[in-house]
Amino acid sequence: MAFVTILDENKRLVDGNEIAAYLTTCGINYERWIPAHEVAADAAAEEILRAYSKEIDELKAQGGYVTADVIDVGPETPGLEQMLAKFNREHWHDEDEVRFIISGHGLFHIHTRAGQVVAIEVEAGDLIRVPRGTWHWFNLCGDRRIRAIRLFQDMAGWTPLYTDSGADKNCQPLCFGVSHLPYEAPVLL
Ligand SMILES: [Fe+2]
Repeated sequence: MAFVTILDENKRLVDGNEIAAYLTTCGINYERWIPAHEVAADAAAEEILRAYSKEIDELKAQGGYVTADVIDVGPETPGLEQMLAKFNREHWHDEDEVRFIISGHGLFHIHTRAGQVVAIEVEAGDLIRVPRGTWHWFNLCGDRRIRAIRLFQDMAGWTPLYTDSGADKNCQPLCFGVSHLPYEAPVLL
């Protein structure tokens, strides 16, 4: 289950329905896919895509996505820091950012048109769709690992376009769902 923090209001949402309803007001689609399919989190990418083929086909039909793949990053991934450094600065894409989380954790920050900054911590079973043009940035959590199905309308649109608004500099990336500690140490990438 995701955690959502509305930073300006210091308010945290933990109920799935409340999260989905609130994120809709921010233009973000959030769904919880339960039950997830019986496929191991470390299964081959093809196996995961096959297990979720019905959901993937539905998303493709809804959003005009033409390809799906599985992104798999962890501490052992070569060049992880450089890869993540591209996405932990506020940016937008000319492409929706659609992720269904298979394992691990991630922290999206959304900078809404109304000027609010919303942190969305995602984990296995969470689907998030950040529409094209949305200002956002992304960090890993303390486990430094995420595996997710991605969908694309056109992979050329995936290039991050930076805003340089500075909003990302004012937010510490805090994850709540990873460790037994009340507050996960921030991962500054
Ligand atoms: Fe992005």
